[in-house]
Amino acid sequence: MFEKIEMAAPDAILGLNEAFKKDGNPNKINLGVGVYKDATGSTPVMASVKAAEKTILETQTTKSYLPITGSAEYGAVVQGLLFGAGSDIISGKRAVTAHTPGGTGALRVGGEFLKGIRPDASFWVSDPTWANHVGIFEKAGFEVKKYAYYDAASKSLDFEAMKKSLSEIPEGDIVLLHGCCHNPTGVDPDLEQWGQIRDIIIERKILPFVDFAYQGLGNGIEEDSQGMRLIASSVKELVVASSFSKNFGLYNERTGAITFVCDSSSTADKLVSNLKLVIRRNYSNPPSHGGSIVTTIVSDAKLKAQWEAEVKEMRDRIKQMRQGLVAGLKAKGAGADFSFITKQNGMFSFSGLNKDQVQTLREKHSIYIVGSGRINVAGITADNMDVLCSAIAEVL
Ligand code: LMR
Repeated sequence: MFEKIEMAAPDAILGLNEAFKKDGNPNKINLGVGVYKDATGSTPVMASVKAAEKTILETQTTKSYLPITGSAEYGAVVQGLLFGAGSDIISGKRAVTAHTPGGTGALRVGGEFLKGIRPDASFWVSDPTWANHVGIFEKAGFEVKKYAYYDAASKSLDFEAMKKSLSEIPEGDIVLLHGCCHNPTGVDPDLEQWGQIRDIIIERKILPFVDFAYQGLGNGIEEDSQGMRLIASSVKELVVASSFSKNFGLYNERTGAITFVCDSSSTADKLVSNLKLVIRRNYSNPPSHGGSIVTTIVSDAKLKAQWEAEVKEMRDRIKQMRQGLVAGLKAKGAGADFSFITKQNGMFSFSGLNKDQVQTLREKHSIYIVGSGRINVAGITADNMDVLCSAIAEVL
């Protein structure tokens, strides 16, 4: 049975890590997968995370199973980060949260759950979107369709086209929105545009599903949630997939969550009873460590402040690298105007580099970026900036 299997293509993003590891060039640069690197080019454990781990190690008394949806404390912490402490979604117990293995696990569980209750719906994603979105929702059984989002010519949001696309989505379908730091473009709607998106969602009676993987890496932990909160405050039903891979640096702890906002607490109770069936049949119940870290940090004022300061440091460094990249490309004589890079949010920059240029960067310069031209700005450092800018200027 197995010998008939054909070789599959490597993953568009994680596959680059494998190729990068094999590359013998000492000056190689990995700007593929969305992992934060500090000024020295490493991805250290955050100090607030280390402190929380110390507490956990000292106080943990058991490794027994967590509940199917994870610990209740973690669920409460996730909802606080999403909706804000005073939110009436929280006080009205309208939301249920399950701890999932990473943001990807959240998307998959959310997709499978929704397929069960909306078998005929289509799933709409932005064009472009994170390479894995389409596969995840197709695997969950949906037909995945695209709504207009990005204008390659102006390197910005094509909001008129987006609104037109959203307005044509049939009632009952599901629309995936990026809460902040759009992956791969780094181009987000402003708050006024979020308001218009919300109005279309309500008018079209479509279900918003927000992928929220970069809270804090755009403009701030509170600031980055504004668009999602605007929608949450005016719809009866919403799904949010959270990831703490980036903002807590918990990549390999697979720490995410799926949150369903319902019209009432009694609907939420019924929903979670069914959600448990989906999770139980997938991975039974979540791993505990990453969730304990997030819970410990956010529940302790001092640790939380330390974490917020660390996230700010990451955010500021990324912004600095954006400016450095624009200045560096100019200095190297790259003819085109790259100032759009400083207007993008979060880890990524949709550089506008085409497939051939991406290929040449990899083959000739050992610089790895995603085939779509997406650069992980969080992987640029003062040390690799010069080599990077020279190489990009050369392939243009
Ligand atoms: C990315 O887009 O690089 C990250 O979300 C990591 C991943 O799993 O692809």
